[in-house]
Amino acid sequence: MTVRIPLELPAASTGHSAPYPLVKGLDYEYPIPEGVVGSAKELTDKTPKMFQPLKVGNMVLPNRVGVSPMCQYTASNNEATEYHKVHYGALSSRGPGLVMLEVNSVAPHTGVSVVDLGLWNDVQAVKLKPIVDFAHANTSKIGLQIGHGGRKAQGNPPFEYLENWNDPRAIKEEVVGPSAVPFRPKGRLPTPTPLTVEEINTIIKQFGAAAKRAVEISGFDFVEIHGAHGYLLGSFLSAHSNKRTDKYGGSFENRIRFLLEVIDEVRANVPKGFPVLLRISGSDLHDSNPDAWTTADSVKLAPIVADRGIDLIDVSAGANDSDADRPKDKFGKFLPIAAAVKKAVGDKCLVSSVGTLHDAKKVNQLLEDGVIDFAFVGSPFLINPGLVLSWAQELDVSVYQIASHWPFHAKYAEMIEYIKSTKL
Ligand SMILES: Cc1cc2nc3c(=O)[nH]c(=O)nc-3n(C[C@H](O)[C@H](O)[C@H](O)COP(=O)(O)O)c2cc1C
Repeated sequence: MTVRIPLELPAASTGHSAPYPLVKGLDYEYPIPEGVVGSAKELTDKTPKMFQPLKVGNMVLPNRVGVSPMCQYTASNNEATEYHKVHYGALSSRGPGLVMLEVNSVAPHTGVSVVDLGLWNDVQAVKLKPIVDFAHANTSKIGLQIGHGGRKAQGNPPFEYLENWNDPRAIKEEVVGPSAVPFRPKGRLPTPTPLTVEEINTIIKQFGAAAKRAVEISGFDFVEIHGAHGYLLGSFLSAHSNKRTDKYGGSFENRIRFLLEVIDEVRANVPKGFPVLLRISGSDLHDSNPDAWTTADSVKLAPIVADRGIDLIDVSAGANDSDADRPKDKFGKFLPIAAAVKKAVGDKCLVSSVGTLHDAKKVNQLLEDGVIDFAFVGSPFLINPGLVLSWAQELDVSVYQIASHWPFHAKYAEMIEYIKSTKL
């Protein structure tokens, strides 16, 4: 049995003399792929789970491996540049289940680094649109992460020096958090100014406005709320960084309030069925610290965010506590946390893991066993943007590729018959 995911490409324009019909959003000739890039050509119940389609909200993914969001520190004036087009274009033309752009900050001076993308104005959203249009011309699903750097905002790019903080564009007074708890005691990152409730309400609105721009101006297929890695929303979750005594601190219910209000605001600003993902640090990785956020907290949080309309919980870990335990870099270093979250939500919500999921066969087995629904992979995509195509070969699955990659799908036997028949 062959089941193809229907091509959702926009109708080609008519009356154009180009050999290829023009694809919406592109002002140059571009051949339409024969099938959804990265989807299995033959889909049967024997097809490895990694290459079985997955529905996330109203979006159908061709396979179950996605490009994890990765800051590229190459924004100009916090706007996308040619670099982003080239980088994300290489990824979105090579068949991952989805491509997620790096975190885009929802307000000025809140980026993870001073040279990261922002989405607090319409010009920034317009500059992202060509990246989306190119991904769609390649039949790919593309989204972005929206976030607020909180007490870890406005740093220098990590390749300069990890946790350095001295760029002339950074403004110390704008570094905010739940409480005056710096990421690293005596470290280089500034001590954050605790947010007022009024400022929290403004940031909630900024998350909603950024999501709206992502959908209505840029045309993204999904958004992910960045609630992980000790940035603003994640730092509210953990009593290690949140020492507040108002309705946003103290009890578990109070510490998750900000995140839930952001989820509600994002949901209210995107169409019904539009996929909204949430990345969390499933644990602060510091269980000997009584204030740390733990896997048990994430297990408690997961059904709550699922009920609030999160389609997929993307479970990462750590980076909120400079004294956290350092897990060994073995395969799937955060898997047990994601597995516990999946167990807690069951079919209510999809769950992914990320972090050293760098083995095609092992990742496929996790998907087959239902331990996780989806795998995010980060750094290997920086080496090989065609990672999913390589993994398809490794798992012996034939997938659609873009037309230009003809050595992988040209019908040689037919061509040779034709050439013979023409007696050339
Ligand atoms: C260069 C780089 C930039 C990153 N930027 C982000 C980011 O913007 N948002 C985020 O949630 N994680 C970010 N991460 C973490 C990755 O998404 C991913 O979780 C991490 O690299 C672990 O996956 P891996 O072992 O497959 O690389 C970044 C990682 C790298 C290497």
